[in-house]
Parts: sequence; C-alpha cells; structure tokens
Amino acid sequence: PLKLTESSGILYPYYFGDDPRVKLKNIKNIQSKTGDIFLCSYPKSGTHWIMEMVNMLVAGSIEHPTKFNFLDPMIISDQVLDSIPCPRIFQSHLRFNQLPASFLKRKGKIIYILRNPKDVSVSLYHFVQKEGRTKYTGKWDEFFQLFLNANVGYSSWFDHVLSWEREKEKGRHPIHFVFYEALQKDAVTELDRMSKFLSLNHPHSFLQSVAECSKFTKMRNQQYLYHPFPADVMDDNYIDYLFRKGIVGDWRTLFSEEQSMQLDEVCKAEMSDSKLAFSYE
Ligand code: PPS
Repeated sequence: PLKLTESSGILYPYYFGDDPRVKLKNIKNIQSKTGDIFLCSYPKSGTHWIMEMVNMLVAGSIEHPTKFNFLDPMIISDQVLDSIPCPRIFQSHLRFNQLPASFLKRKGKIIYILRNPKDVSVSLYHFVQKEGRTKYTGKWDEFFQLFLNANVGYSSWFDHVLSWEREKEKGRHPIHFVFYEALQKDAVTELDRMSKFLSLNHPHSFLQSVAECSKFTKMRNQQYLYHPFPADVMDDNYIDYLFRKGIVGDWRTLFSEEQSMQLDEVCKAEMSDSKLAFSYE
C-alpha cells in the first residue's frame, strides 16, 4: 500500500506529516495578497504545464524565471510566502474549501485543471513507483483498485472533480476550468480563455509563443525548473517522472478491456449529476 495519512476522510501524501491537520490549518491561515492566483487540480492532471503557461501569461513574457509554488509540501512561513513576487501563483491539490480563508474571502481567481481519470491513474502509477518516500512496488492491477477505491493521496478523483464542479456551478467564486485534453488539441484557444479570465489581454501572437514555449519537449528539457521536493523524495531524474510522456490516451498501455469498462461504469454512476465530459483519445 501507499504510505498515506488521513484527516476528515481524505488521505494525504507523506508531505502532510503524521497529522495532516497541522499543515491544513497552516494553509487555511495563509494571509492572501491582492492578485494571488491558485492553480488547483487532482494530481497528475497537468499542473506543471498550466503553471508554466500561467507564469508566462502573468509575466507577459516567455523569458521568465519559473517558480513552482506547490503549496502542499511547502514550508508555510511568512518569510517564505513574502519572498514570492506578486502576483503570487500557487499550486495545490486541495479541495476548494481547504484553500486559505482570506483568499476565498477576497474571491481570488482559481484555475482548475482536469484530465480524464484513465490517464490520471496511469500517470500516477508511474509517479508513485519513482517517488522516493513512496517507492510503490505493487503491480498495475493492484494500483488500479487503489485508485478506484480512493486509496491514494487526495483520495477520490471523482470526489475531487465533483466537489470543484459544484463550487463552480454555484457561481459565487471566479473559477475557470481547463481540460488537459483541450490544451492538447488547441492550446492557443485555451490560453486565450485563461488570459481573459485573468483579465489579461494578450495578442494572439503572444499566446502562440506561450503555447510553443510550454510544449512538452521544451519543458522536459529545461533544467531551471524549481522544485520544492527534498532530495530524498525525487532524485536527479525527477524531470523524467514529472514529464513522462505528456500525451492523451497512454492509459491504453496498462488498462485491460475489463478495467476500462469498470472505470467507465464507476464514472457513469459517480458522475450521473455532472455536466463534465472527458475525452480519452
Ligand atoms: S503533479 O506532480 O501532480 O503536479 O503532476 P502534473 O503536473 O499535474 O501532471 C503530470 C502529467 O502532465 C504531463 N505534462 C505535460 N503534458 C503535456 N505538455 C506539457 N508541457 C506537460 N508537462 C507535463 C506529464 O508528462 C504527466 O503526464 P504523464 O501521462 O505521466 O506523461
């Protein structure tokens, strides 16, 4: 099994510590600043890709120092938080109501990234095998059941996505959804939508440059990517784990026909009230 800790029915990875409530409380109490942006997602949905794009959009430049402010494992101290240049762009895999209270009160902008659950589970399976403190050694069939039964970090993919959809539907908070598969199909259109959501009006030519510069191969080859994980968690090859294949449909390499049908069925049952539609190819 994976080494996880639990709080209020949700499982968390090792970096939440023995008692996740401490970290969750720290995050809840972060003092937000004007212009703070959150990029939220279930793990393995394309967080790094969006991070790169939004960094460029906000900077208005493709020549920018990339900083990955992944809040969940970050040391939450005033010093660390104040050292981040504004507007701060945070990433988190938490649910809406777990974000800093002052950020929610301020109605800060949130971009939520979604990816089809088959590719998410396969990406996650490869990741947990490599992650130093997890080093998952189980077979795919076993991991697939863990994923379906929500026995993975951040628990159920279904619950995560549905809880965010409910929040968006309420219309009380500026939340913008971006699908990984849509980004793959037409990054410029999605960049234009994100740019408008962030009240930035970038010309088409700039959006094209951003799409080009955030391509999988470019990101994979960049060595300057800052990452907050301690050395024993991700070895020097972490680029290989974070930028593994970057395609839609890699689930076919591991899913059996039965597993695919099983996930489709669970999806149908769990998502019966949802308006979300995922593409798998
Ligand atoms: S994490 O660790 O949860 O934050 O991972 P996350 O960044 O959300 O997701 C990792 C997957 O996204 C793929 N990826 C990309 N795809 C296309 N273009 C770009 N630029 C890109 N960057 C990252 C990455 O390869 C992981 O997917 P898999 O399927 O494992 O390749």
